Amino acid sequence: MNIHGDRLLILDFGSQYTQLIARRVRQHGVYSEILPCDVDPKRILAFDPKGVILSGGPESATSDTSWQIPSEVFSLGVPILGICYGMQALAQQLGGRVESSQLREFGHAELTMTNEDSLFAGLSDSSTLSVWMSHGDRVVELPEGFTVIGSSEHAPIAAMADTTRNIYGLQFHPEVTHTESGSEILAKFAHNICGCGHDWTPENIIEDAIAKVKQQVGDGQVLLGLSGGVDSSVVAALLHQAIGDQLVCVFVDNGLLRLDEGAQVMETFNQNFGLRVIRADAEERFLTALKGEADPERKRKIIGRTFIEVFEEEASKLSDIRFLAQGTIYPDVIESAGAASGKAHVIKSHHNVGGLPDNMRMALVEPLCELFKDEVRVLGVTLGLPPSMVYRHPFPGPGLGVRILGKVDKESANILRRADHIFIEELRAAELYDSVSQAFAVFLPVKSVGVVGDQRRYASVIALRAVETIDFMTARWAHLPYEFIERVSGRIINEIEEVSRVVYDVSSKPPATIEWE
Ligand code: XMP
Repeated sequence: MNIHGDRLLILDFGSQYTQLIARRVRQHGVYSEILPCDVDPKRILAFDPKGVILSGGPESATSDTSWQIPSEVFSLGVPILGICYGMQALAQQLGGRVESSQLREFGHAELTMTNEDSLFAGLSDSSTLSVWMSHGDRVVELPEGFTVIGSSEHAPIAAMADTTRNIYGLQFHPEVTHTESGSEILAKFAHNICGCGHDWTPENIIEDAIAKVKQQVGDGQVLLGLSGGVDSSVVAALLHQAIGDQLVCVFVDNGLLRLDEGAQVMETFNQNFGLRVIRADAEERFLTALKGEADPERKRKIIGRTFIEVFEEEASKLSDIRFLAQGTIYPDVIESAGAASGKAHVIKSHHNVGGLPDNMRMALVEPLCELFKDEVRVLGVTLGLPPSMVYRHPFPGPGLGVRILGKVDKESANILRRADHIFIEELRAAELYDSVSQAFAVFLPVKSVGVVGDQRRYASVIALRAVETIDFMTARWAHLPYEFIERVSGRIINEIEEVSRVVYDVSSKPPATIEWE
């Protein structure tokens, strides 16, 4: 058994769902990795998978210039599953025929399982499944050795199998949640057909990661920029288990954090875990650097630059640091590699700590670089981090700096912190926190008239923002109950005398962004 246990290779032909395939497979306890379809074939052989999944893709298999399945995939002699384009490429390359269909099926289709093959065995009481299609081409002639195992109204060959060679093709996407029993189909392929075990568990992941880190750093010291966000927190907990006191963390308090966040980070890591955490109290420095600046992009740059300065100063006080740890996760790596450039990975990694200069000659330690976000979270909880920290909504690097619209000062930050805290506290109390993807308050640089008691109050306006999203690329404003918004608004206006009015943001993305700046 290699370090990850049995593993599957996913060859990427450019589908928007490729990452999902890898995640689903891993959720079934099988390590899987994505390689681009034009990867050096030696890497396919070296990966030594127990099975290969060919992803979908935007191209047409009928075109002369479309991506081919490398011959090494077949010479491995392991089971193969082609999904959508992957199936069409299989058909085309193994002697069948693919046509561009006039009757395209996009979205839901009903699949009739014509043959209770091992891929479909026991999936459903009926012989049909509701599946998700998204391609214009379809297989019209089977390659030799294949039989039809499923068909739909417009695709008589919607699923095919060659059970002798263990090669399968699905016209639909089992990896998306819209496909009924899709995840089970992938599990059957991984376990029953490829014979993979259930080795990819949080405990094994931690054990592997610890072994790798120990091997990489030896007795060297490792520096980590700890932000309190999920990724750097999990790296801290993991490295602490791996190398104990060889880890030094620098936590930069930029004065733009949420209420009590600095104290919580210190309590969790320093007091509870016993980590060496250097807290750089840099509030004044950040606020001075930001003074008078109202432009969002320039504010971001100032915050990023100041962070690097402070971080570097703290690092330079330490001697003999040979490694820099970062919370790079797998999607960062795939996104960079997808651009077919190995170099992009390094740029992105540096970007994680805001772009450290090259003269900080430290080797990178990136123990999460093979993990998806959901895996990172499970690992965090397994390592003993508080679930409230691990499942926290994302918080932007520039922090409240981009949630105080226009010029930033300490008074506005203090007001915003309190309003934000009330909003989040109420979301948790109403058990709505986990039903929204991100929620926060925004400080608006306007004053509005209100009346409190008999007193006229001319004070600030706070906006509340809550969104639902899967990928943060698009988002819908969260339809929180009116009574809930009323309670939050009442508390903010009553408890914070500098606020006279609260508004709720009903803009979706696009065209609005999630943050206001
Ligand atoms: P937008 O506002 O672009 O936000 O719709 C999408 C997601 O990205 C986060 N965000 C940032 N994160 N630095 C970060 O680290 C930034 O400058 C930044 N701007 C936005 C935002 O909170 C949301 O989750």
